[in-house]
Amino acid sequence: MTRWETAEVLKSPMEICWQFAYEIDSDKLKALYSKAKKYQWDADADLDWSYAVDPSRPVMEDDAIGGVMRVPLVERLNKSQRETLLAHLAAHRLSQFLHGEQGALMTAAALTHAVPDYQGKLYAATQTMDEARHVEVYARYIQKLALVYPMGVALKKIIDQTLTANHWVKIAIGMNMIVEGLALASFHNMLQVTPCELLRQILRGVLRDESRHVAFGSLYVGDAIRAMHPDEREDVADFAFEIVSLMRRARKRGAEPDPGFLSVLDHSGIDQADFWKSVAESATSGQRFEPPRDQIHPFKHLMMPALVRVGAVTDRARERYKAEGIPVWEDRQALERFESGELS
Ligand SMILES: [Fe+2]
Ligand SMILES: [Fe+2]
Repeated sequence: MTRWETAEVLKSPMEICWQFAYEIDSDKLKALYSKAKKYQWDADADLDWSYAVDPSRPVMEDDAIGGVMRVPLVERLNKSQRETLLAHLAAHRLSQFLHGEQGALMTAAALTHAVPDYQGKLYAATQTMDEARHVEVYARYIQKLALVYPMGVALKKIIDQTLTANHWVKIAIGMNMIVEGLALASFHNMLQVTPCELLRQILRGVLRDESRHVAFGSLYVGDAIRAMHPDEREDVADFAFEIVSLMRRARKRGAEPDPGFLSVLDHSGIDQADFWKSVAESATSGQRFEPPRDQIHPFKHLMMPALVRVGAVTDRARERYKAEGIPVWEDRQALERFESGELS
């Protein structure tokens, strides 16, 4: 059965290529491919799906949500109202994981088509299988929560721009560095705050895979960018800047709220106007939410250091980040700990 009525079609301008030189000439990429084959896992065999998840109970503690649970109006809610809100926020967040993973599945497949090297194609095929498994596990888990929220407008726009980019390096930047930077941080932070054992098993498995995906970006994309003509490099740097600033703008205080988030409020019985009034009041009183110390910040710890490392932040791009008020963080410690699997 083809579900064309629910499918959405995009057109890609990307060139795809054959490669008939089958020598494996990158030891690092070969090692990553071997590791990927070795660490494949099966959602049927390796996870305990009999674990009962009560959809009316939150699957995360409220520290995970940060700002929303600290809004004065939310703090005044009774325990059961707060739990309802948290349950919907969790379903909303996990829905973003699910939709994002489908995007990752398609971008990984696009990389398999488009990378010019044989070993790059083999590796990208393993990432495609990883992402298929991630879509599967989140889809199955969300069925237990009984509610799927739509994909966030900004996330959809970012992944669409990545999928319809004209060069595989842009796809690897948009997905393996920027979107997966966000995903790694969210998965890691969710793992710190969920008491649900099944979700913890899922997150651990997914994080292990994701650490390889981030490592691929730095191993392979850096060489490709260094080999580019300077004009082409600037074009790639511009693409990275556009995606990063799109994501920053969407997450900024005062940004237009996502329709999915507004339906979370509706489903939780919270009046939208009252909620935003309370947000505005807490903002004017100077109250700020500080995330717990062990939380990973996607831009600071993952995305920006990864972009700098591969040469996707040129001198000209630095000026653009500066003008937009986006710091170019370069400290790679957290990124390298993820890549080594230490943080997952
Ligand atoms: Fe994934
Ligand atoms: Fe991934």
